[in-house]
Amino acid sequence: MCGIVGHIGPKNSVDIVLEGLRRLEYRGYDSAGVSFIDEHDELQIYKKSGKLDNLKGLLEGKDFQARMCIGHTRWATHGEVNDTNSHPHMKDHISIVHNGIIENASLLRKELATGGYEFKSQTDSEVFLALLTRELAKKKSFKQAMLDSFALVEGNSAFVVLNKDVLEIMSIKKGAPLVCGINSVNSEAFISSDPYALAGMASQLYFPADNVLCHLSPKNKNLINFYDNKGNPSEDFMSKKQDMSVGPTDKGEFEHFMLKEIHEQPELIRSLTQFYFHGEGLESLLKAGEFVPSKFHMTACGTAYYAGLLIRDFLENYNKIPCSPELASEFRYRNPLLQKGESGLFISQSGETADTLAAQELCTENNIKTLSIVNVDGSTLFRNCNNNLLIRAGMEIGVASTKAFTQQALTGRLLSLALSKEVNEEASRVKLTAKFSLLAEKIDHLIARSEEIKDIAESIHNHKGFFYTGRGVYFPVALEGALKLKEIAYVHAEGYAAGELKHGPIAMIDEDMVNVALVGPELFEKTVSNIQEIKARKGVILSIGPKDHEELAELSDYYFGIDFDGLEELSPIYINVVNQLLAYYIAKYKGTDIDKPRNLAKSVTVE
Ligand code: M6R
Repeated sequence: MCGIVGHIGPKNSVDIVLEGLRRLEYRGYDSAGVSFIDEHDELQIYKKSGKLDNLKGLLEGKDFQARMCIGHTRWATHGEVNDTNSHPHMKDHISIVHNGIIENASLLRKELATGGYEFKSQTDSEVFLALLTRELAKKKSFKQAMLDSFALVEGNSAFVVLNKDVLEIMSIKKGAPLVCGINSVNSEAFISSDPYALAGMASQLYFPADNVLCHLSPKNKNLINFYDNKGNPSEDFMSKKQDMSVGPTDKGEFEHFMLKEIHEQPELIRSLTQFYFHGEGLESLLKAGEFVPSKFHMTACGTAYYAGLLIRDFLENYNKIPCSPELASEFRYRNPLLQKGESGLFISQSGETADTLAAQELCTENNIKTLSIVNVDGSTLFRNCNNNLLIRAGMEIGVASTKAFTQQALTGRLLSLALSKEVNEEASRVKLTAKFSLLAEKIDHLIARSEEIKDIAESIHNHKGFFYTGRGVYFPVALEGALKLKEIAYVHAEGYAAGELKHGPIAMIDEDMVNVALVGPELFEKTVSNIQEIKARKGVILSIGPKDHEELAELSDYYFGIDFDGLEELSPIYINVVNQLLAYYIAKYKGTDIDKPRNLAKSVTVE
């Protein structure tokens, strides 16, 4: 979704902001823009719909030496995708960028238009510019005008404002990600919606709390000052050394990030137990297992939710702790019963998903402990939870989540060990390490058979629709397989519990409908019966099941046999890698934009 980057310092700020925006491209956006103070102290603005390269084209050949700049990548919410609706928005000596949604925008817009403000764009964001202009016209200081304008907007937002009159940047947020940074050696101050944009540039990071005003100015002794909503100095922020490296963000030998990330899985799986069964990792695992709740409320969105369903199975089977899974967007508005002794469990790659954050906040308000299984260290979810287990997937750039799913599920398995006494027995840790290694090895073999999956994809990619079916522990991966196909191949796909088909969806089965049947060792016979029912109605069967199984092969139009031996509870994670590769190759035959599918954003920071 939208990305923000801002910079003040002696280097050319436009270059720094463009580099930050480049790093945020993976999040998904539809237009980009920058606004800056040039070497003649003029406020300039350049913005363009489409890719960042379009904006760079506008700036080509112009040799600005900007000393402060703000930039934005927009993911449209209010108003169509065009140059005018792109950010920044500017009036007189002020330009602004905004992430989030102003919920009372239409009301404020009417009021401001009646007061004489002429809106140029259809965006809710320009409402904040109009408010600020109005407050500044009352001769208020920049600081006061920011605070008073912010007090009038409802919803979750982050605003970053550049003011040419005072040569300062101010920012404030509520319920939206924002991070400030400094590099005191170079006298530089930064601001962004994502710490990754500042990796290798800022040495110290500050994560302000909601409603804290951040003031970036070369005149400030520490470059950045923080104020509360009364305008008094505030220390309501978390400070952290910047330890993130830019890392290899190129695709290497791979055509897409998604494929690269699928291939990274075996190595990541191997290193997970290495980390969690030694030193600092073991300490964090033991800490996460210290509090054994009477019940878990597991909430998450999308792929993270499906990983959560597998985690639910681990917690209920091994720990006998009831776990109630719920989509975060539903949980937050349902008044769930949250009782003393229970715990909220949140699964997320980004740690910035608006609904998951709201669900976490609800648990905290109800005084129950919160635990996250999250990828991004220092993300809002990470900071807000009582306890965290990092999934250590590294940066995931493909919008379609692959390696994060696998690492989330496996970290959940480690949590289930941590919640039992067995975590203290070396033998149990060794046994689980061996199982993880076996999974990694089998995924390696599976990846080596990618051509076979590609051939199947070639044969079935033009079919009108897909049902992914599974039973028991394979049902969550049926849901995940269908989601993967929908999001990157734009093909209609549904995940179903195989036993549910005859309660309605079987009416859809015909010669043009593919049933991707996920047939693991658990509930094998029952799943095969369900396949028979589809076969009888002329559906096309692709079964992914135990290797060398003649009956299954005979029953299926396409059969991909895999070796489940020794995997036990990890078998759904294994079968899901076939789903990932299948979706990838179908999308490739369809010719879609695999890493940045249409309409999608990597991290969904609005509800
Ligand atoms: O960052 P999160 O894990 O909280 O994101 C949750 C979902 O938005 C995410 O998993 C989404 O469903 C993926 N694009 C699926 O591939």
